[in-house]
Parts: sequence; C-alpha cells; structure tokens
Amino acid sequence: MSSWPIPTAAPFAPEEIEILNRVVGPATPVQRAWLAGFLAGLDAAAAAPGTAVLASAAAPQAAALAPQPAAPAQPAEPLTIVYATESGNSERLASDMAKAARKMNLKPTVIDMADLEMSELASAKRLVFIAATWGEGDPPGRAVRAYGELMGEAAPRLEGVQFGVLALGDTAYADFCGVGKKIDARLEQLGGKRIADRVDCDLDFEEPAGKWIDGALKALAPAQDAASSRVIAVDFGAKPAPASELGPFEAEIIELTDLNSSQSNKETYHLELSFEGAAPQYKPGDSLDLYAENDPAYVDDLLKAAGLTSDAALRADLVKNRDVTTLSLKAVETYAELTGHQYVKELLASGKAREWIAGRQLIDLIQQFPIALTGDHLRKVTRPLSPRAYSIASSRREVGEEAHLLISAVRYESFGRARKGVASGYVADQLKKGQKVRVKLRPNRHFALPAPDQDIIMVGPGTGIAPFRAFVQERRATNATGRSWLFFGDRQFTHDFLYQLEWQNALKDGALTRMDVAFSRDTPEKIYVQNRIWERRHDLIEWLDSGAYFYVCGDAKAMAKDVRAMLVKAYADVKGLSVEAAEKAVADLDRAHRYLTDTY
Ligand SMILES: Cc1cc2nc3c(=O)[nH]c(=O)nc-3n(C[C@H](O)[C@H](O)[C@H](O)COP(=O)(O)OP(=O)(O)OC[C@H]3O[C@@H](n4cnc5c(N)ncnc54)[C@H](O)[C@@H]3O)c2cc1C
Ligand SMILES: Cc1cc2nc3c(=O)[nH]c(=O)nc-3n(C[C@H](O)[C@H](O)[C@H](O)COP(=O)(O)O)c2cc1C
Repeated sequence: MSSWPIPTAAPFAPEEIEILNRVVGPATPVQRAWLAGFLAGLDAAAAAPGTAVLASAAAPQAAALAPQPAAPAQPAEPLTIVYATESGNSERLASDMAKAARKMNLKPTVIDMADLEMSELASAKRLVFIAATWGEGDPPGRAVRAYGELMGEAAPRLEGVQFGVLALGDTAYADFCGVGKKIDARLEQLGGKRIADRVDCDLDFEEPAGKWIDGALKALAPAQDAASSRVIAVDFGAKPAPASELGPFEAEIIELTDLNSSQSNKETYHLELSFEGAAPQYKPGDSLDLYAENDPAYVDDLLKAAGLTSDAALRADLVKNRDVTTLSLKAVETYAELTGHQYVKELLASGKAREWIAGRQLIDLIQQFPIALTGDHLRKVTRPLSPRAYSIASSRREVGEEAHLLISAVRYESFGRARKGVASGYVADQLKKGQKVRVKLRPNRHFALPAPDQDIIMVGPGTGIAPFRAFVQERRATNATGRSWLFFGDRQFTHDFLYQLEWQNALKDGALTRMDVAFSRDTPEKIYVQNRIWERRHDLIEWLDSGAYFYVCGDAKAMAKDVRAMLVKAYADVKGLSVEAAEKAVADLDRAHRYLTDTY
C-alpha cells in the first residue's frame, strides 16, 4: 500500500494534506481501520444527536469489524480566488473564503492580483475576485499591472468561466468600489458567466462580505454540495483577531513633536508610543491602526444643529464611536428616508447630490436641511468610526518596546468652515504627552525589507518617509551590507525637512548610502521627487539592473503615479527602449516583487 494515501485533489489545504499524510501514511492497517470507524462514529453522532457517546465508544468495535472504506469522495473542483489589496482586507477575506471553500468540496487557489497572469484566468472554471479600490477609483498599487492587462485588448476570452466579484471600498469616495465594479463588468464582457451578483462593501465590510462569500460558495460549489442541505456557516463578524498579538494595545505617548518649523504652513507630528510590556511584534513596513476620537467641539456643533444638545450619552457615543464627519451619498439617502425632508429628496432627485456633497460634511447637511431629529436618526445616518492607519517609523531593534509614527495634520477650509481630519486632528489638537491611546498592528508582508545584502531605493516624500526611517534603523541595527538610496521631498528645505539630522547621521554612519531631496517651493519651478529620479536616471537604472528593490510610499493620488511614469520614461531613455518595452521593464519589477508600494 502506498505510504502517501491522501490525493492532492482532496478538499484540504496542501499543508493539511501533508499533515494527514504524515499520520495516515505510515499507519498500520489496525490504526487505519480504527480511524475509519472513529470518523464514521463521529458522523453518525452528528447525524443523530444523543448518540455521540455511543458512537465514539463503538469506534474500537467498528475497527474490529474493519469496514471497507466508503466510496472515495468526489474529487474537489478547482476554484480560483484572486484578491487585489493594499491594506490587507481583501487578502484576509480571500483566505477566509478559501478555508470555507475547502469544506464544500472545492479546491481553492488564492492568487494575489500582483502575481496574476492572464492565462490563469482563461483556464479557471470558477473564478472569484475580491478587489479593493484605492486612490480615487484606482486599483491597489500592486495590482496595477494585472488590472491594466485585464482591461487591455490582449485580455483572454472567458467563455465557460463562472465568476463572482466582491468589491471593497468606502462610501466616502466618489468612485465607490469603482475597481470591483469595473472588474465585474469586464469579466462579463470577456464572456464569463456571473453566477453571484456583486456586492459593494463599505468600511464595515465583515458582515456583508461574510454573507456574500457564503452565497457565492453555495452557487459555485459542485452540484452535490449545492443541492445538499449542508450549510457552512462562515461567521466573519465574530471572527477573533487572527492573533492576539495584533492588539488593540494601549500605549502611552512619550513624545509628541511637530517636526515642521513654526514658519511652515504644515504640521507633521512625530509621535512616540511606549507599551507596557512588549511592543506589538511589528516589522519595518508594518502600520499601526490608531483609534481616534472626534473633536468634541464639532460634535457639540452637530448636536446643536440637530437640536439634541441635552443628550449626554449620545454626545459621548458620537465622540467615541460614530463617523460624524463623512458625508456620503448613502448618508444623504438615509437622511432623506428617515426624515422625509422634501428638499433633500429634491436634491437627490436632481442628480446633483454627489456634486453638492464634495467638500461638505454631515454637519453641513443638517445645518442646511434642518428637521426634527432623534439620537437614533444620527446613529443611523452615521457609520462606525474607523481607526486610521499610520506607517510605523521605527525599528524595534533600535527603539525597543516603542513604536514611532509620523502624522500630518489635515486642515482645510471649505464652504466657509475650518475643517480638520478626525485622527490627525485628534493627535494635533487633543493628545498630550503622558496620555494613552489605543492602537492595533496592521502587518504588511508586501512591503518588507529584502535580504540585508540587497540594494534598496526608497521614494518617500512627505509622510511617505515614515517606513523608510524604520528601514534605515533596521539596516543599521543588522549591519546590512546592501546599498540604500533615499528620495525625499516636501515644500521647503528650511521648514519641512523631516528628520533632517537623522538622515545626515545615517549618511555618515553608512546606514544610508545616498540621498536626494526635492523641495517644491524653494525654486520658482516646482521640483518633486520624480524630477530627481529623472536627473539620476542613469545611476538609478544601474542600481535596478544590479537587483535593487524599488519602494514607494506616500500619496497615491498623484505622486505614486508620477513616480511610476517617470521610471518608465527613465528606462526608455537610458536603455533606448520603446514606451511599451519600458513599461514591460517596470511590470517585470512588479512581477519580481521588486517594485513595492505602500500608498494612500
Ligand atoms: C497603510 C496606510 C498608511 C498610512 N500612513 C500614514 C502616515 O504614515 N502618516 C500620515 O500622516 N498618514 C498616513 N496614512 C493616512 C491616514 O491613515 C489618514 O488617512 C490621514 O491621517 C487622514 O486621516 P484623518 O482622520 O486625519 O482625516 P479624515 O477625517 O479621514 O479626513 C480626510 C478627508 O478629508 C477630506 N479632505 C482633506 N483635505 C481636503 C481638502 N483640502 N478639501 C476638501 N476635503 C479635504 C477628504 O475627504 C479626505 O479623505 C496612511 C494610510 C494608510 C492606508
Ligand atoms: C487613501 C485611500 C483611498 C481610497 N480610495 C477609495 C476609492 O476611491 N473608492 C472606494 O470605494 N474606496 C476607497 N478606499 C477605501 C478602501 O477600498 C477600503 O479601505 C478597503 O477596505 C481596503 O481594502 P484592502 O485592505 O484590501 O486594500 C480608499 C482608502 C484609502 C485609505
């Protein structure tokens, strides 16, 4: 008898098959028979409640009878799950879906869209996309290449492919779930057969995503399972954090400094957090989710506009738990439904609501369209307050049980009102040294340092510099031999050069090999990091040719796209390539996981 009896087509993960083979492979005939009887006993017990004790007690007898194994299970059917993620939500859901799929006689293959080849789509029989939208309706940075290929002329036909799309997004953005919507439409256009209707999820996605996965799996599962009454409950909402090591943790603020000079028109706060006991086990490239509170003065204005100033419990709830600033189309629709406000209904009917929303917040809606409101109305029109992510700007090897963050204060004026970001405003205006905050670790295995002997190029203007402070600290602490090149940019050299002394020291002690800076407001003509990349293109391509990793962190809307476009231009110029060949050179860096982005 073969010592590797579990076929790879079995409905288990490869690592589970390996474990099973390790146990079952060398088992004696008596051990196998006992196991068969034991499992049969368990199934019988599950089918007939109350017989559990009897059934399992009967297992040895069953072994003595040495039953013939039941007819082999129908081979598991393949399922391809592609995820497009930036901050990990879609990836986690893809992995949850794969686990649930295995229980439904499906054999899932989970693919990061960053690694997706179009040929894999055409050969998939059952296909699921779980895709997040970033920037302003853009695909996550790592998915840009494959997304472009899917939308491009060379995309394969998908006749015979059954598909479903789960879209992740944020109703605060004008192009809500735009990428998921476009992928869904494209798969159909290419001839695929939609067998699960797309669901568009907001930031509180756990419950709708769990339901969609459940329904999609039932539709995709091989006929025998779909027809059976076996329901696989996937409780995503109640799922415990994959590891308690992620937190949330309470941390004390031991340093809080504005790194910009008093004459700068920006405020960028360096925040040092100290943990009681061990710090979260973070790595350079990871982020922390910070749980902020709303500005109490804003909440008071909101309650005044709503005529609810005397409700202290409501005030506390809104300050701590509700997103009281975002104004989405969905919020306006809910407001109209709950209150029946005639003018709000008219605004929606006019098709101009989205335009009206731009630059406004919930308070504008209530002030402009006042009506008698209850606390329940306010709770229904708002969603839960989400934590905000911040790249960790330190290495544990250098700072011990601390974590440092770099946070830019969001302040702007619109429609005659001074506004500020919830979390950055909380840090800038409410937090003080000695206070406690809650944070949760958000690991990012896609933005990690390579081996210490590899060269790295880091492009991080503004707060994009944060993870590179962690990279440089880590490289110093590990005596890394690879070269490190940093591109930094901000407005003015004198007022906005974040961590200037630290970079100078790093250049001296060798943790940093080279640094190029671009200060956009020091010269009549605005100079940005991408302009420096262009000026240094010959050296840069030489570094990349010798295997350097290219990292980009910071603004997703303009900077990340401009940097990528400039790199394409640099390849074309230095190597005399056509635009298509230069684009392929950058796409090859993506494929090799040497073009890594963490943009927001
Ligand atoms: C993985 C990751 C890492 C990050 N790392 C960092 C980091 O290291 N440092 C950092 O500072 N940030 C970082 N961010 C961004 C951070 O999470 C927050 O998005 C940012 O601090 C703003 O949050 P807030 O609560 O202060 O503002 P919010 O309350 O969320 O308000 C921001 C919103 O205000 C509106 N707005 C802003 N400016 C204007 C304007 N001029 N006109 C009209 N409307 C405007 C926009 O709708 C915008 O979406 C990161 C994000 C991610 C996803
Ligand atoms: C900087 C930034 C830009 C975003 N842009 C959009 C957008 O244009 N449309 C949208 O629906 N969601 C947008 N989102 C929300 C994300 O899609 C949402 O947080 C999603 O859950 C992220 O999934 P992921 O962790 O798999 O990347 C944006 C989020 C951030 C932080």
